[in-house]
This record gives sequence, C-alpha cells and structure tokens, in this order.
Amino acid sequence: MSDAQNLGRGEVTIRHLSKSYRLNGAPLPVLRNINLHIRSGETLAIVGASGSGKTTLLRVLAGLEDPDDGEVLIDGKLTRGVGTDRAVIFQEPRLLPWLTVLDNVGFGLETRGLSRAEARDRARRYVQLVGLQPFEGAYPRQLSGGMAQRVGIARALAVQPEILLLDEPLGALDAMTKISMQQELARIWRDEDVTTVLVTHDLEEAIYLADRILILPREKGGEPRLIEIDLPRPRDRSARAFVRQREELLGVFGLH
Ligand SMILES: Nc1ncnc2c1ncn2[C@@H]1O[C@H](COP(=O)(O)OP(=O)(O)O)[C@@H](O)[C@H]1O
Ligand SMILES: [Mg+2]
Repeated sequence: MSDAQNLGRGEVTIRHLSKSYRLNGAPLPVLRNINLHIRSGETLAIVGASGSGKTTLLRVLAGLEDPDDGEVLIDGKLTRGVGTDRAVIFQEPRLLPWLTVLDNVGFGLETRGLSRAEARDRARRYVQLVGLQPFEGAYPRQLSGGMAQRVGIARALAVQPEILLLDEPLGALDAMTKISMQQELARIWRDEDVTTVLVTHDLEEAIYLADRILILPREKGGEPRLIEIDLPRPRDRSARAFVRQREELLGVFGLH
C-alpha cells in the first residue's frame, strides 16, 4: 500500500486473553491465555471443535463480550466495547424485511454522517460488488439464502470497517451455494483491503480462504495452534498441495 497513513490499518493484537463462563455456579474456562497478532489485510480463519470457544473469541474481538483477562488492541489502541472499526456478520443476515436490498445495504450510513446521495452511491457500489445489482429493488423475502447472505456482506462492507468478523457466515447454505460464495468472498477480499477473521467449522473453507488458520484446542489444557496456508491464489481445491493441506488439517483433528 502506498499511502503511509494507511499502513497497519486493521492490525489486531490479542494479549493474554482469557475468558470463562459460569456453568451451574462453577467456572467454565473457554479461552485460556490467547496471544495472537493479526496482520493488516490478513484473512485469519478460526477453527476448532464445537464448544472450543470460536464464537466466544469472535465476540470478544467484536467487543460484544468482555474478556476476564488480557486485552485486544486495534492498530495499537486498546479496544473497549463495540466500535465502528469492526463489522460482524452472523450465520443469518438479519435483514430488515420492509427495506429493499439497496436500502438494507445503505441502512445506517446516513447516521454515520454521509449525505443521502452519498449513502445511496456507497450502497450501490457494494450491492454491485456482491453481484446483486439486478436485485437492488427486491425485498428480503424475494431472495434465496445465498443472496440474502450477500446482502449482509455488502451491508457490513459498506460501512468500510477496518476489521470484518464472520461467524460461520456460510454455515446455513447448501453445498453448491457455499462453494460459489467462497469464490465470491475470495474475490471480494482480494479487492477490499480489510482484515478478516472468519470462524468456520469447515476445514476446506478455512484452507480455501485463509492466510492463516488458528486451531483452538479441544481439551481445555491444550495450546492453540497457528498454521500458515501458503498456497497460491486463486486457490484450487483439487490441487495436490491443497489436498495435502486438507489432509494435514484433518490429521490435527484426528479425522483420518
Ligand atoms: N453466554 C454464555 N454463558 C455460558 N456459557 C457459554 C456462553 N456462551 C458460550 N458458552 C459456553 O462456552 C463454550 C464455548 O462456546 P462457543 O464459543 O459458542 O463455542 P464454538 O463457537 O467453538 O462452538 C461452550 O461450552 C458454551 O456452552
Ligand atoms: Mg460458534
């Protein structure tokens, strides 16, 4: 990036992060001493068994949940609660049913100081980015699941966050839609310079999209692992190196 002011935008530092919940009065440790630096513009996937704390970690990063210990810094600054520097995408897009696609994407931009015309232009640009231009006047009930999730992605990107946080965003989609959405996300993330944290239980999705994968341990005493996915892009699921990577990752989970 040539603009020196933008250097380091969207860098996340997680230090000594711990989080427990309480279950029947007893503490339930979920995250234990997580230390991680997420690079500017990087796509980090978080995988791990169900209940390993993926959603909890994402919610702490979003500021929706406070850690018991440790801290999260964005561009060197301590975070406190939610902020406009971060956008979150959940499995369900949660669109407003009475607004069109375009208005859903533009929703909230005016309260962020954009004029009506600017908000509309911005919304149009992101609707186009996710390939929904022909549907900009459609209502959520007229969309398929994959299209609705695209609207959710466009809406999150339209606020131009530094960091995009996604919790199993494609988890509710059928297998074919999922693959085309993964291709779409890979393309969008190539063009949009945003740091991305993607929680997924789909190991192939993690390898297809991520620069690095954080594997949360299954046992509470275990250490998280971080692996670098050093495959050329656009990635090819049938390439030998991809298949080898997937087998390695399955092996980490004792699944082959
Ligand atoms: N609000 C909560 N209160 C109590 N326990 C919770 C809460 N949220 C999550 N947990 C527990 O924390 C653990 C991790 O949950 P979660 O982060 O949702 O895991 P994952 O997303 O990896 O499946 C689970 O055992 C879950 O039951
Ligand atoms: Mg979860």
